[in-house]
Amino acid sequence: MIQRPRGTRDILPPESRLWAAVEAEAHRVFSGFGYDEIRLPVFEPTELFVRGVGEGTDIVRKEMYTFADRKGRSLTLRPEGTAGVARAYIENGLGQWPAPVRLAYMGPMFRYERMQRGRYRQFAQIGLEILGADTPAADVEILLALHTFLAALGFDDLVILLNNLGDPEDRPRFIARLKEILEPHRAELCGDCRQRWTTNPLRILDCKVERCRELVAEVPPVSELASDATRTHVDAVEAALAELAIPVRRAPRLVRGLDYYLRTVFEVVSPGLGGDTAICGGGRYDRLIADLGGPQVPGTGFAIGEDRLIEVLPSAFRERVLGRPVVALLPLDEGAAVARCFALARELAARGLVTHTEVTRRSLKAALKWAVKLDARAAVLVGANELEAGAAQVRDLTEGSQEAVAFVDVADVVAGRLPGPETVLR
Ligand code: HAM
Repeated sequence: MIQRPRGTRDILPPESRLWAAVEAEAHRVFSGFGYDEIRLPVFEPTELFVRGVGEGTDIVRKEMYTFADRKGRSLTLRPEGTAGVARAYIENGLGQWPAPVRLAYMGPMFRYERMQRGRYRQFAQIGLEILGADTPAADVEILLALHTFLAALGFDDLVILLNNLGDPEDRPRFIARLKEILEPHRAELCGDCRQRWTTNPLRILDCKVERCRELVAEVPPVSELASDATRTHVDAVEAALAELAIPVRRAPRLVRGLDYYLRTVFEVVSPGLGGDTAICGGGRYDRLIADLGGPQVPGTGFAIGEDRLIEVLPSAFRERVLGRPVVALLPLDEGAAVARCFALARELAARGLVTHTEVTRRSLKAALKWAVKLDARAAVLVGANELEAGAAQVRDLTEGSQEAVAFVDVADVVAGRLPGPETVLR
């Protein structure tokens, strides 16, 4: 048997319905803040990520799905969305649009990661980027949109962790301090961190290995060595969020796994996933577009990990989406009975009910069993007698009662008995 590659998933119904509902909610909330969708290629020139995400990052060093196409060009399945958005901004001249440019995106990303809970090799992100505003207000806006979206899904226990990474100019000072403190213990660092020492020392702060954690506890937080200008910026973000009653927690040791960040960085963690696993990450990247050869245009944004988000989705949202009542339509004959069932299915579906029409010539007894297995709340039976009478038999599968209902009234009667789209879907 051929199996799917490790780290990929099949999202089956009805779980897939949750994905569609989450994405619909994202479109609704984010477009309300002025963010419309940009649809980008799933593969890009490898160089985009090497330059954008950063040569020394774990993503570029060991997690990219890179391949040569038939003409020998090096392409990479996108490991994240921001570099692609920046490329598209430059390539399509979005600098000509009224600034700032607000963009949303969603779709699959690919990273060759070690398998563990909530970590996949193909995973989906939902992200926002705002390009062309270097103000704290732009950071506040994306966090407001994020918070509004999460609240719409019913989350009330998520924590936004916020930090100031400083500007790139502050970094050599910080790295020098970090190395000064860690130098005597350099041999005790894990293999990855010994490599990070030269490629990306900042990432040592983020290592999950116990001994490395103990050692970095001695290093002052990155925010302490950041310039006053960056502190003023992130303090302003924090103050504005407080005004909006959006709770954030300062996380002075938060660093991010991509090189383009400066100043504001943040993550959202869920108690349901454990403190280490972020369901969202983001921050400011004012040099990225220029580093990719474009104009000097600042940006800030985030990406939510949709797989992880769905894993901890509040039960009320799950139930609202998955709880749509099912109605089984059971033609007892071929021909006209089937056509009548389909006509009724069309009316019921239009009212937000989920219909399943029997199309495999089951006997009535078998069809009713099938309906119960589908968890149908009602069955609508149409045979020769019903066609002649102009009325279907509507059976309540919870109570077992049955009544004749004129075809024209079936949709009203069934929808009236079962919660309709207003109560189920909003
Ligand atoms: P990131 O922190 O690498 O940031 O990814 C964002 C989110 O994607 C993570 O918080 C996590 O929920 C999810 N994620 C990442 N890797 C995996 C994985 N292997 N399996 C499941 N979920 C995963 C970025 O990608 C930045 N582009 C975010 C951003 C946008 N910054 C500014 N704008």
